[in-house]
Amino acid sequence: MSRAMSATADHTFDAQQFRTVLGHFPTGVTVVSGMSGDQPVGFTIGSFTSVSLDPPLVGFLPMTDSATWAAMAKMGSFCVNVLSRDQADLCWKFAKSGNDADRYNDVDWHPGRTGSPIIDRAVAWIDCTVEEVFEMGDHYFVLGRVVALEADADHDGQGPFPLLFFKGTLGGFAADG
Ligand SMILES: Cc1cc2nc3c(=O)[nH]c(=O)nc-3n(C[C@H](O)[C@H](O)[C@H](O)COP(=O)(O)O)c2cc1C
Repeated sequence: MSRAMSATADHTFDAQQFRTVLGHFPTGVTVVSGMSGDQPVGFTIGSFTSVSLDPPLVGFLPMTDSATWAAMAKMGSFCVNVLSRDQADLCWKFAKSGNDADRYNDVDWHPGRTGSPIIDRAVAWIDCTVEEVFEMGDHYFVLGRVVALEADADHDGQGPFPLLFFKGTLGGFAADG
């Protein structure tokens, strides 16, 4: 194994290379939603992950300076909406800074058990209360306890194909074996 990087050595790359290389790891795309008072808020998040089955825990990593996270953190809950391939427009809409008030325009949703928005026709949704928040570099790791979840709720048996993100672009999933 290369020892080019150790805990004490300066790293051997710049921010651009870090982004480029990490962009070669494909992810699903979610909108993590919540409420700020009586206003729905949310942002596009690729860093969603399952953490534990017993107890049921999931997590995601928002930037420490995210206005959206600051707004939804107060309520202590969030819902992860896994986007379908037909929801690419939501991916960009919920990632654009400065349009917080407009993000839910033309988006159909209803409140989940925690009150967080469940977005219609998502591939799956996972409704959570915030269990713990860890600060890690320029991101938080938000650990959530799952209180309710559902997959393929309103696709009428039609395959809900997930939206994928790879090298800065969106695409779809094709089964291959
Ligand atoms: C595909 C995709 C995945 C993203 N994943 C994350 C993520 O995991 N964490 C994060 O902080 N921002 C992520 N972003 C960027 C946020 O969506 C964006 O910075 C945020 O919506 C800005 O809103 P805010 O300023 O209110 O936080 C992602 C953007 C895209 C397009």
